[in-house]
Amino acid sequence: MKYSLPTFLFASMLSFSSWAQLSVQNLTVENLSIPIGIDKAQPRFSWQLKSDKKNVKQTAYEISVRSGKKLVWSTGKISSENSLRIPYGGANLASDSKYTWQVKVWDNQAKAPALATANFQTALLRHDEWKAQWINSGIEGDSVNGIVPHLRKTFEVKKPISSATVFVTSRGLYEASLNGKRVGDAFLTPGWTSYNKHLQYQTYDVTKQLSTGKNAVGVTLGSGWYRTKLAWENHKNLYGKETALLFQLHITYADGSEDWIVSDNSWKSTPSHILFSEIYDGERQDLRKESKGWDLANFDDSKWQNVKIASFATDYLNASVNEPIKKHETFKPIKVLTSPKGETILDFGQNVVGWVKFNISGKAGQMIKLYHVEMLDKHGVPYFENLRSAKAQAHYVLSGEPNQTIEPHFTFFGFRYVKVEGLEGKINPEDFTAVTLYSDMKPLGSFECSNPMVNQLQKNIQWGQKGNFLDVPTDCPQRDERLGWTGDAEVFSRTAAYNFNVNQFFAKWLKDVSADQEPDGAIPFVIPNVLGKVTGAAGWSDAGIIIPYNMYVVYGDKQILQDQYASMKAYLTHVRGLAKNDLWNMGFQFADWLSYRVDDSKSTIGQKSAVTDVYLVAQCFYAYNIELMIKVAKVLQKNEEVADYEALLQRVKKAFQQEFMTASGRLISETQTAYILALQFDMLPESLRQNAVNRLVENIKSYDYHLTTGFLGTPFLNPVLTRYGQNDVAYKLLLQDTYPSWLYPIKSHGATTIWERWDSMKPDSTFQDPGMTSFNHYAYGAVGDWMYRTIAGIDTKEADGAGYKASIIKPELGGGLTFAKGSYLTPYGKIASNWKIEGDILALEVEVPANTESTVYFPTSDISSIKSNGVALTDLKQEGKWISKTFGSGKYAFTMKIK
Ligand code: BGC
Repeated sequence: MKYSLPTFLFASMLSFSSWAQLSVQNLTVENLSIPIGIDKAQPRFSWQLKSDKKNVKQTAYEISVRSGKKLVWSTGKISSENSLRIPYGGANLASDSKYTWQVKVWDNQAKAPALATANFQTALLRHDEWKAQWINSGIEGDSVNGIVPHLRKTFEVKKPISSATVFVTSRGLYEASLNGKRVGDAFLTPGWTSYNKHLQYQTYDVTKQLSTGKNAVGVTLGSGWYRTKLAWENHKNLYGKETALLFQLHITYADGSEDWIVSDNSWKSTPSHILFSEIYDGERQDLRKESKGWDLANFDDSKWQNVKIASFATDYLNASVNEPIKKHETFKPIKVLTSPKGETILDFGQNVVGWVKFNISGKAGQMIKLYHVEMLDKHGVPYFENLRSAKAQAHYVLSGEPNQTIEPHFTFFGFRYVKVEGLEGKINPEDFTAVTLYSDMKPLGSFECSNPMVNQLQKNIQWGQKGNFLDVPTDCPQRDERLGWTGDAEVFSRTAAYNFNVNQFFAKWLKDVSADQEPDGAIPFVIPNVLGKVTGAAGWSDAGIIIPYNMYVVYGDKQILQDQYASMKAYLTHVRGLAKNDLWNMGFQFADWLSYRVDDSKSTIGQKSAVTDVYLVAQCFYAYNIELMIKVAKVLQKNEEVADYEALLQRVKKAFQQEFMTASGRLISETQTAYILALQFDMLPESLRQNAVNRLVENIKSYDYHLTTGFLGTPFLNPVLTRYGQNDVAYKLLLQDTYPSWLYPIKSHGATTIWERWDSMKPDSTFQDPGMTSFNHYAYGAVGDWMYRTIAGIDTKEADGAGYKASIIKPELGGGLTFAKGSYLTPYGKIASNWKIEGDILALEVEVPANTESTVYFPTSDISSIKSNGVALTDLKQEGKWISKTFGSGKYAFTMKIK
C-alpha cells in the first residue's frame, strides 16, 4: 500500500515526534562548570541527560578530549549508565592549556546519540612550573593593623598573543589588575586556608586584558585572615607577619613562542590610600592619597620603592578546587531611620554579609564613617555590644572628587543596619547599596509551602548560609569570632547541601581539617584552626567524619571519602583512645550547646532547664561516628575494617545502655536531646524504643509543645519524631511561634536570618548575653533538611543510590499545610515534589531526573484511590503504613484520597 505524502509526512512526524528528544547538559569537570585552573592529572568528567521521555536510562557514552583540533584522548563507545565523574585516561595533559571535551551519549529511548561540548583549562600540573618568586612590599608599616601596599610592574608585549593566563596567590589577600582592569571577579582571594600547610592559587584567562606594547600589572595586598586579629584572645600574625604575593603571567604568542611575567625584585611598591584594613575592625581609606592610574602602563612610579623577595615555599600550592567568593545580591535601604540620639541609620531590610558601596560628591577631607550592626534595640538605638571587640566600621576621607563610588576591599561586615556619620545635608538612601559577598555556590534547592512564616524560615536559613559560607563555613559574620566552627558546620551540612552545591566548598575545607588535625588524630574545634591544640569534642570534631559522608550521600562523589579517609580513620582511632571501656566519658565536651535554660528568658513554658549529660551526648556521637565509618568503609570496600567497626559499634551501644539507661529504658537525662540522640543512633534495645518515644513526646508536651534542644539535639528532633510516627508533633514544633521555637524570632522580632540562641533577642525585646549572641548563626537552621526531606519529601537513597541515582519521594503531610513545593538539582538533573490538598484529594506532581529512578511513597492509606494521570496505579507495594512504587525518570501527576 503506497502512502500519500501527507500521510507519510504525518506518519514520519508521528514517528519522529515519537523519537525521543535526548539532550546532554550541565557538563562539569571536577564538579565545576567550564573550570579555568584544573590541576588534576586525571580530571573527572560529568554530564546530565535531559529527555521528554519517561524511564530514560543511559546505555553508553563516548568522551573525547581535544587540544585545538588535535584529539588527545577518547574513551570510544563505553556501554555504561555512569554519567558522573569519569576520570580522564589519556596521555598527560599539558599545563596551562585549553582543552575541549565532548561527550556523546546513547540512551534506551532515542534513536540517535546526543552530543555536548565544553571546555576546561589546566593549571600548573607540576610544582616546579612556578617561575615566580614570593615578593613582599618591603614597606615600613606594612604590618597587621598597618598600611595596605600597592605593588606594580610594567612589561612589554612585543607581538600578537594567542593566550595569556595569570596564576596568582598571596599570603594575605590580593586584588590584581592588568592595565587598570580587575583580574577576575572574585573577592577576598585566595580565601582562608591553613596557609602554611594548604594554600590555593587562582587561575585567570587574561588574554583580552593585554595589549601589544607596554602593559602594567598592579596588585594590592591586604592582611586578610593571614595576619589579622583572629578570635577573642587578640591572636595576630597567626600565619605570618609579612604579606606576600606570588604572581605568574604566562603569555603564549601567536607564533607559539612564550613569555612569563613573574613576581620578582623588579616590582615596585608604595603605600596605597587604604590606611588600614582588617577583618573584624573594618577599613580606613584616605581617598586624597589615592594614586589615580597607579596600575596603568604609563604611570610614573619612579618614587616607588623596590619590593623585597620573600622566602616562602611554592611546592605545596594547589589550584583552587572550590568556587571563589563573589558579589551577589545587592540591597538598597528600605528605610532611613533616626535614632533617639539623632543618628542616621540605614535599614537594608535583610541581615547580610558583605559591605556597603556608596556614591558621594563630598569635600576634600570630609570623613564619612559607616557603623555596621545587625539589630537596633527596642528604642531604635544601634546594638553594638554583640560585636564584642570587633569594630566593624568603614571610614573614608573624601578627596572632594565629584560623584565618587566608594567601597572597601579587604574586610567584610555582618549587618542589616548601618549608622552613617559625616554626611552633610539630607541622606539619599539611593546612594547606598549593601553588596553581599559569599562563595559562588550554585543554588540547587527550592522549598515553598502554604505557610508564609515557614517560607520566611526557609529564606532565613538560606541567608544564614549565604552569610556564613565565605570560603569557610563560619559560625557568625559580625563579632570578633567568624571562625570555621566544626560543630555548626556538621549539624548544618545536610541542609547546606540541599540549598546549594557545597561539594567543592567542603572538599576544600576538609583539606584544612586534615591539615590542622593533630598528630594524635584530634580534630580542632575550628578549621582553619586558630584556637590551639584540643583533644576533640563530640559533635564538633566529628565534623571530620560526618561532613565527608553527608557530601558523599548527597552528591555521590566517592573522591571526598577517598581524600578524607585517612583523616577520618585517624580521628576515630583518637576517640577510641580517649574512650575507657568503650565509653567516651572524659575531657571537655560542648554537648548540646545552647539548649533551653529556664533563667534565659523567664519564659513560662517549663520550669526545668534542658541540660543533657555531656557524656551521654558524646557516647551517642561516638556510635554515630562508627556507624558512618562502617558505611564509608563499605563504599571504599575496606571490608576488614567494616568488621572491626561493627564489633566496636555493638560494644559502644552496650556501654551506653549500661552507663546511661535504666532497665526500663529511662535515660539519666530527662531531656528531649537525650531521647532524640538515643533514638536517632539506635542506642536503645528495640523493645525499649517506643517507651523512649513516649517519654520524648511527654517531655515536649510538658514544655507546651516547645523544643528545648541545643546545637546537637535540634537537627535530629523532627527527623526522629517523623521516623517514629510522631509527625504531628514535629509539625507542632515547626509551627510553634513563641520562645523557644524556630518561628519565634520571625513572629516576634521580624528576623531575616537564623539566630545563635533561641532568644538572642528575648520576648521582652532585651538582648541575651552580649558576650555571645549573634543574629546570624546557621546551626539552628539545620531544620531545613527536614523541611526538604519530610515536607517536600525529597531525598536520596544511600549506598548504591547516593547522589540521587536512586531517590525517594516521601512527603509527610501535616501542620495544616495545604501545599508544598520542593525541587532540587541533583547531579543527574532536577527532581521535584509538589503536593496540593483540595478537599479530601491530594494531588502530587513528581519529576524524576533522567538516568535515575525514584521510589514514591504515597501519603494515603487508600491504595485504590491512587491514580497517575487519572489512571489507577497498579503494582503498588505496601510497606507498613506506606504504599510505594518505584518509577523511572519523567514527570508524573498522581492523585489520591487522603481522608
Ligand atoms: C560559636 C559557636 C560554637 C560554639 C562552641 C561559639 O562561640 O559561636 O558557633 O559552636 O562557640 O562553643
